Amino acid sequence: MCGIVGYIGNKQAQPVLVSGLKRLEYRGYDSAGIATLNQKGTATLLREKGKVAELEKKVATHKTADQVGIGHTRWATHGAPSKRNAHPHTVGDIYLVHNGIIENYQDLKAELIKHDYDFKSDTDTEVLTALIDYLYKDAASLLDAVSGALKMVVGAYGIAVLSVKNPEEIVVARKGSPLIVGVGDDEVFVASDGSALVGYTDQVVYLHDGEIGLCTREGVQLYDIDANTVDAKVEKLEMDLQSIQKKGFDHFLLKEIYEQPESLRSTLSGRVNTDTMTAKLGGLNMSDEELRAIENVMVIGCGTAYYAGLQAGYLVEQFVGDVTFNSYIASELRYRSFAVPKNTVALIVSQSGETADTLACLMELKRRGVRTLGVVNAVGSTIAREVDGGVYVHVGAEISVASTKAFTSQVAAIMIFGLMVAQAKGVGVKEISDYIRELELLPSEIEKCIVAHDKEMERLAKKYAQYEHALYIGRDTLYPVALEGALKMKEVGYVHAEGYAAGELKHGPIALIDDTFFEVFYLQDNWLYEKAQSNLIEMNARGAHAIVITDTDKRIAAEHVIRVNTKLHLLTPLVFNVLSQLFAYYVAVMRGNDVDQPRNLAKSVTVE
Ligand code: AGP
Ligand code: GLU
Repeated sequence: MCGIVGYIGNKQAQPVLVSGLKRLEYRGYDSAGIATLNQKGTATLLREKGKVAELEKKVATHKTADQVGIGHTRWATHGAPSKRNAHPHTVGDIYLVHNGIIENYQDLKAELIKHDYDFKSDTDTEVLTALIDYLYKDAASLLDAVSGALKMVVGAYGIAVLSVKNPEEIVVARKGSPLIVGVGDDEVFVASDGSALVGYTDQVVYLHDGEIGLCTREGVQLYDIDANTVDAKVEKLEMDLQSIQKKGFDHFLLKEIYEQPESLRSTLSGRVNTDTMTAKLGGLNMSDEELRAIENVMVIGCGTAYYAGLQAGYLVEQFVGDVTFNSYIASELRYRSFAVPKNTVALIVSQSGETADTLACLMELKRRGVRTLGVVNAVGSTIAREVDGGVYVHVGAEISVASTKAFTSQVAAIMIFGLMVAQAKGVGVKEISDYIRELELLPSEIEKCIVAHDKEMERLAKKYAQYEHALYIGRDTLYPVALEGALKMKEVGYVHAEGYAAGELKHGPIALIDDTFFEVFYLQDNWLYEKAQSNLIEMNARGAHAIVITDTDKRIAAEHVIRVNTKLHLLTPLVFNVLSQLFAYYVAVMRGNDVDQPRNLAKSVTVE
């Protein structure tokens, strides 16, 4: 789930590995380690619980000139976060780092114990390390031993492997967990995420599932699982240093909230045209006729990506006519016995493009012959490669574990898709032009809102940071905003926050209201204003500590009212959402939380 780095070349490996691990810190992890080899095959293994900074201190007192090595940041799945469970693991001649889960590790472990292996950690990873060591005794090469072991393994992995028997190579492999090889001049880099490679090389090879790579100083040779050679495609890494630096902000989260006007402009660029009042996405690989035939759209994602689908669905159904737009939580959908109506298109929404549950749904839909379209940020990611077509949201690297700018752009991208379907179906320019106009206005409206309310949200956070519970409430297009707002508050504020549809309050959650809760209430001055306001009044009557976020000038009774001045009507929910992001950010800061790497979370969830 977490970070892998590797290096073989003519530089000292330790600093390269540590700097790569630092770049991967944003993904969330609990321990870190590196192993390097000298030319005689003597290994130096350094591991620490906690941050890469701890590991770095250790490296400072155990410097080596070794030019080959692997490193890891671990997000524990099997065994508690500890030095003993940290990677690299070593058994016999082998050193190995692993992202993912080996599902049949217990069976394999039982077999290996019969062959006199004993285990020092609780991890599944150590079992794979021992298996490779065992097979290497009879194999012609490390590559053959790795290939033999991977054929026996059930589960997901990205791995990098060293053997003391041959300090001139690193073997890497992937299945279900990303792995990239960066090719430089007489040096090769390994990483689970492009951000570790930025500044070193922009020439990269993305491994596909089932591929193994043999890395030497000269480059990488790819093989399939049976060790037959496969051609490697060298691609350009689309990432720059700017996007992975904080640029003067205290945290990536705040930087990314502030980046939204810009990132949204990249999403919209060349795709909505207010002169012709049309919307167009390049990569769908669908003709007008095919778009016209769509009757049902399934939008699939996890967490914030799921909420983005829900949000977009509420908006698109207002103009798309008789097309059904439903959103699904990927981890649920993958095990449901769901039917797919005819003329269905599935939108697969994912910032990282690597989320295991989302990927599993994609594969199942493909198996059933459903057309799949990606709404993805990470270029070259697995989901982006597996879909039949799709759209990159182009928000740049999103480093903070809590997703913000990706959400806004995912909603926009799905809306553009909805607009294209509407156009193909003959929905008139008049019906859709308001949406197109508002999409174009959205970046500057978000900008205005951030500038106008940043300080207010900070003050508000000061006032409410002590509360342990919160309800987030919205109706209609503001319901997904409530869900997403509560998620942000949970994950970075560690406040128990629940999102509810306003009309649902009286069916249960209103019983919770007391002095230990605050309530964030989204209220838009539209045709549902009166209905929503009644819900607010019901809450107030029960002693709510309500914070209302609204675009109205009308009088509102609440503990605090945030009045947003916006030219928007239809897309106002996306502006309100930015305020929830700022609020969660400042609460997290006040509570002293690890804002960019909240506890227990990982940026890219490549396990089930
Ligand atoms: C968002 O703040 C979360 N950290 C999480 O819910 C995330 O959106 C989810 O894991 C999906 O990730 P993806 O977009 O990379 O697929
Ligand atoms: N399953 C392995 C472990 O618990 C790998 C964890 C990871 O992906 O970071 O050690």
